[in-house]
Amino acid sequence: MSETAKIIVEGKEYEFPIIVGTEGEKAIDISKLRDLTGHITLDIGFKNTGSTKSDITFLDGEEGILHHRGYSIEDLAEHASFLEVSYLLLYGKLPNAAEYEEFTSTIKEHTLANEGLLAMFNSFPTGSHPMGQLSSMVAALGLYYPKALNPHRSEEAINRTILRLMAKMPTICAMIYKKRNGHPTVYPKNSLDYVANYLNMTFGQVTMPEYEPDPVLVSAMNKLLILHADHEQNCSTSTVRIVGSSQANLYATISAGISALWGPLHGGANQEVIEMLEKIHHDGGDVDKWVAKAKDKEDPFRLMGFGHRVYKNFDPRAVIIKKSAYEVFEVTGMNPLLEIALKLEETALKDDYFISRKLYPNVDFYSGLIYQALGFPEEMFTVLFAIPRTVGWLAHMVELLGDKEQKISRPRQWYTGQDERSYTDLQKR
Ligand code: SDX
Repeated sequence: MSETAKIIVEGKEYEFPIIVGTEGEKAIDISKLRDLTGHITLDIGFKNTGSTKSDITFLDGEEGILHHRGYSIEDLAEHASFLEVSYLLLYGKLPNAAEYEEFTSTIKEHTLANEGLLAMFNSFPTGSHPMGQLSSMVAALGLYYPKALNPHRSEEAINRTILRLMAKMPTICAMIYKKRNGHPTVYPKNSLDYVANYLNMTFGQVTMPEYEPDPVLVSAMNKLLILHADHEQNCSTSTVRIVGSSQANLYATISAGISALWGPLHGGANQEVIEMLEKIHHDGGDVDKWVAKAKDKEDPFRLMGFGHRVYKNFDPRAVIIKKSAYEVFEVTGMNPLLEIALKLEETALKDDYFISRKLYPNVDFYSGLIYQALGFPEEMFTVLFAIPRTVGWLAHMVELLGDKEQKISRPRQWYTGQDERSYTDLQKR
C-alpha cells in the first residue's frame, strides 16, 4: 500500500499519493488538488515544486551528489569525453565504439554555420555581449532549416537538429570571440576532436602556423564541458522545457535557454565571480570587508559563486574544478585571483552567516579562474557554460517530446490586484 499525504481544507480531509523516486526522494502528487479542493498551491521560485519526472540527472543537495543516468559526475569527469557524456545524456547510455564513431563523425559533418548568418552577425555592435549575440544567432539558425520548425517533425528530424546544434555551437561561439578581437574567423578543422576544434577556432589564427592546443588545456576544457552539461531542472533547463512544451522548435527553445542562462544569478555568475575577485584585488584584497558586505542585508553585494538552490553542501562540480585549476595553472602560470578566492572560501566557510544558510562554493566559483587562465575574456565565460548546457537542454527536450503525459506548461497564480471596477470616461477621471 503506497503512502499518502492527508490535508484538511475547509474542514474536509483529502488524501494525495506520495510518489517515491529511484533514489528514495519523495513527492506529494497534487495533480488533482484544484479539481478536488478548489485550491492551488503557492511556491514562489518553485523551491518545493517538482515540474516533471525525469530520468536524466539526479541531485542530492544535502550530500552534494550529482549523477547522470546513474553515473557519478566524479566518474564521468575523470574518465569520459564530453561527447561520450553528451551521448549518455541524449540517449540514456554510454555509446559503444561504433555508436561513438557514428555520433562524432556525424557531428563533424555539421560544424559549419550557414554563411547567410554573417549579414546579421556582422550587424551586431562590436563588443556587444556574447550571450545576446549567441541567443540571436541560435534563433536565426533555425530559419535556415524550415523543416525543423515543423512542430510535428519526425524523431529523425529532431535528432538531426540536435546534432546540428551541438556541432554549430562551438563554431558560433568561436566566431563571437574572433569578432570581439577584430580577427577573422577560423573555420572548423574536422581533423581535430570536438574540444580541440573549439580551442583551435578560438585561439588559432588564419596566419598562425598549425595551432596545437596544449593537451592539459584540452583535458581541462573537456572536464569543464562535462561539469556544465546538465543539472536537472535549473532555471535555464526549466525555461527550455516550458518553451518546448508549447511545441516551439528546438532552435527557438535553445535560444530561450541561452537567454535564461545569461542572468547573473544563474550562468552569468561565472563572469560575476571574476569581476568580484578583481574588485576585491583592486581594493587591496581585504576579504573580511567583502564577506561583511555579503552578509549585510542593506548592501546589495552578494558573494557570487556561493550558494545554491539545491546544494546545501559543496557543489561536487566546484570540488572537481578547484582541483583541475591547479593542473591548468601548471601550464598557464598561477592566476593571482586564486589566492583571493581561496581566502574568501576559507573565511566564508568559518562564518556562521554562511554556515547557518548552508552556503558553499558552487560550480561558478572557480570555473572563471580556469577560463581566464585559458585566455578567455570574462564576457565569454557564460558562453562557455552555454556550449555544454545546450546538450543538457536538448536531452530534456528529447525526454519531453517523448513523454506522452507531458502537457503545455501553464502555472497558476495568486491574484493580489484590484477587485472589479467599471470603466470611466477620460474626461471624468
Ligand atoms: C548556477 O539551479 C542550478 O542547478 C543552477 C546551476 C546549474 O548548473 O544550472 O548550478 C548553475 O546557477 C549556480 C548558481 C550561480 N549563482 C550564483 O553564484 C549567484 C550567487 N548565489 C545566490 O544569488 C543564491 O545563492 C542562488 C541564486 C544561487 C540561490 O538562491 P536561493 O536558493 O533563492 O536562495 P536565497 O536567495 O533565498 O538565499 C537564502 C539566504 C538568504 O538570506 P536570508 O534572507 O535567509 O537572510 O541565503 C542568502 C540570502 O540572502 N544568500 C546569500 C548568497 N546566496 C544566498 N548571501 C550572500 N551571498 C550569497 N551568494
